[in-house]
Amino acid sequence: MDPIVKVEKPILTDRLILRPFRMTDAEDVFEYASVDGVGQMARWIPHRDIEITKAWLKKTIENQKTYAITYRGKVIGTISINHSKEDMFPQFKDRECKSLGAVVSKDFWGKGFASEALEAVITWLFTGTQVDVLFASHYDFNERSARLQHHCGLHKLGETSEYDDIWKKDVKFIHNVLTKEEWLDGRWADIVGKITDC
Ligand SMILES: CC(C)(COP(=O)(O)OP(=O)(O)OC[C@H]1O[C@@H](n2cnc3c(N)ncnc32)[C@H](O)[C@@H]1OP(=O)(O)O)[C@@H](O)C(=O)NCCC(=O)NCCS
Repeated sequence: MDPIVKVEKPILTDRLILRPFRMTDAEDVFEYASVDGVGQMARWIPHRDIEITKAWLKKTIENQKTYAITYRGKVIGTISINHSKEDMFPQFKDRECKSLGAVVSKDFWGKGFASEALEAVITWLFTGTQVDVLFASHYDFNERSARLQHHCGLHKLGETSEYDDIWKKDVKFIHNVLTKEEWLDGRWADIVGKITDC
């Protein structure tokens, strides 16, 4: 099942504010979306013109599925909450599923921002909505995305291969999953670990 989830309220983390997009974000988005090597990893072509960014923003604001990751007032990336992959994995057909995607400006890679944002969205989805299964996928050669997903508790469910329009060749996708039970278990283990450490 694919529950209705709308990106409406901001989420605050230690360093970031995640919030719905605004049309005034176009320049910030264009700044990272036009850089080679960012979009291609997430299956889209870099924006060659700010008009492409504006069209993307308009659609994104209407759809209410994507958080802007903001750091010190600047948009540095996105976390998107997409239609689930339960068709591909029928064992989850009776669960409330969504699929996650993340993009961060190349200037801010390796600082833990993607992990911080993704973890915050996962917490909100599992505690503030009906969602109880999350998927995320990446190209098998996208090591950064693999590390991000594993860091946030997602683990391998399967893989598929298909022709890809972005890379103009057959590519392999790794599909990861995190259930609400696993997420709760992980948090419980963390808490017990901290108590034991005292
Ligand atoms: C995938 C992507 C979002 C990951 O971003 P990132 O900046 O590499 O992710 P993070 O910074 O959160 O995590 C990476 C590292 O920072 C580390 N980190 C975590 N918290 C940290 C902190 N507070 N300070 C410094 N580093 C930290 C993590 O441990 C991790 O280290 P590792 O790579 O050695 O395991 C980014 O590379 C990207 O936008 N790529 C292009 C688009 C893309 O591939 N999207 C995914 C499509 S499926």
